[in-house]
Amino acid sequence: MFNKKTVEDIDVENKRIVLRLDWNVPGDAHGEVTDDFRIKASLPTIDYLLKHGCSLIILSHRGRPDGPSREFSMEPVARKASQIIGREVKFADDLTGESAQTAVQQLKPQDILVLQNTRFYPEEKSGDEGFARRLASYGDIFVMDAFAVAHRTDSSVIGINKFLPSVAGFLIEKEITELSKAIENPKKPVLAITGGAKLETKLPLLKNFMNFADHIVVAGVMANILLHALGYRTGKSIFDKAELATAKDVLAQAEANGVKFILPTADVAVAKSRDETERQEIKTEEVAEDDFILDFGEKSTGKVKKLILDANTIIWNGPLGLYENPVFAKASKEIAQAIAASSAVSVVGGGDTADVVNSLGLSDKFTHVSTGGGASLDFMSGKKLPAIEALSDK
Ligand code: 3PG
Repeated sequence: MFNKKTVEDIDVENKRIVLRLDWNVPGDAHGEVTDDFRIKASLPTIDYLLKHGCSLIILSHRGRPDGPSREFSMEPVARKASQIIGREVKFADDLTGESAQTAVQQLKPQDILVLQNTRFYPEEKSGDEGFARRLASYGDIFVMDAFAVAHRTDSSVIGINKFLPSVAGFLIEKEITELSKAIENPKKPVLAITGGAKLETKLPLLKNFMNFADHIVVAGVMANILLHALGYRTGKSIFDKAELATAKDVLAQAEANGVKFILPTADVAVAKSRDETERQEIKTEEVAEDDFILDFGEKSTGKVKKLILDANTIIWNGPLGLYENPVFAKASKEIAQAIAASSAVSVVGGGDTADVVNSLGLSDKFTHVSTGGGASLDFMSGKKLPAIEALSDK
C-alpha cells in the first residue's frame, strides 16, 4: 500500500508550505475554469494544512503552453479555488521573479498564494536545478499532492524535494491506495474495460491487466484494430495498420493467459463520418466499405453490462466510443450507469473516462475516480511514478 511519508508524518504547525498541486483544469478561451474536479480533489490537504496554521504557496502547471498565455494562466484557477475554499486566494503573475518573492514574503499564517503556471518557464521542463532551488526557497516543507503529474519529471514535480523535507498530500495517498487495491490482489472476478486510440500506448496496460483480469473489454480505436486482426471488415474505421502485427500478438497472448477479450462482435454503431448526428446500429459482420465504427451497439453493450453484474472488481480506463460526439457516447454512458449501480469495487482512470462519469454526476457511486490520466495509466500498467519514488519512505 502507501508507504511514503504524508503531511501527518511531519510537523507542519505554522510552517510555510510549497504545495505542488495538479490544477491543470480545462477552461474556455479566456481561461475561465470549466471543470473544477481537480481543485475539489485537493481540498483535504489544503484544509489540513490551513487547520495547522500553515501558509500555502501553490504551484501548478496548466496545459502545454509554449510560453505565457491568457488561456493557460493560473489566475482564473486561483479565483475558482477561492470560491471553492471560501477564503481569499492571492495570485502572483510570476513564479521566480521579484513580485512572486514579495508576495511570498508578505504571507501570513493561513494565507494562500497561487503562483503563475510553472510551464510558462522553460526551466520547468528542462529540469533546471536552480529553478527548483528558487521554488524551494519559498517554504519550509514541500508537499507533493499533484497525482495527475506524478509520471512526469518536471522541476516542480521532482526537483524541489532535493532542497526541502518533502511529504505526500492526502490525494496522492488516496490515489495510490485505491489504484493499488484494484490491481494488487483484487477480488475476483475482475473486469477491465479499456478504450483508446493507440494500441502501442495501451499495450503495457493490456499486458498488466492480462496478469489478473478475467475479462478485458477492448473499445475505441483499439477495438477496430483487434476486430480487423480477427478478420472482421472494419470499413473506414480509424486505426494504424502498422499495429496489426502487435494486435495479433496481443490476441495470442490473451489466449495463452486464458483471458477473454470482449470486443463489439455482436453489433456496432456506425456512421459515414465522425461528426454525423445520427447513429446507425448494425451487426458487426455487416460493416460496409464506407462505414466508420464509432461505438458499441446495443447487444455488444449488453454483453458488457452482464459482465459488470457478475464482477467484483471493475477497472475502467477509456470511453467505449467516440464520446466527444454525444451521438456516440451512448455505450459509455450506459456502462457508467451500470457500474454505478453495481456493488463491485470500481475504479476509473482519469482523463476522458473521469469526464464521462463526472458529467453524469455519478462519481460518488464509484469506489474511486482518479484525477490522473497518464499518471493512472502508467500506474495501472505497473510502472513506477517518478514523483512518488522521489518521496521519503515512512
Ligand atoms: C494531466 O492532465 O494528465 C496532467 O496534468 C499531466 O499533464 P501533461 O500530460 O501535459 O504532462
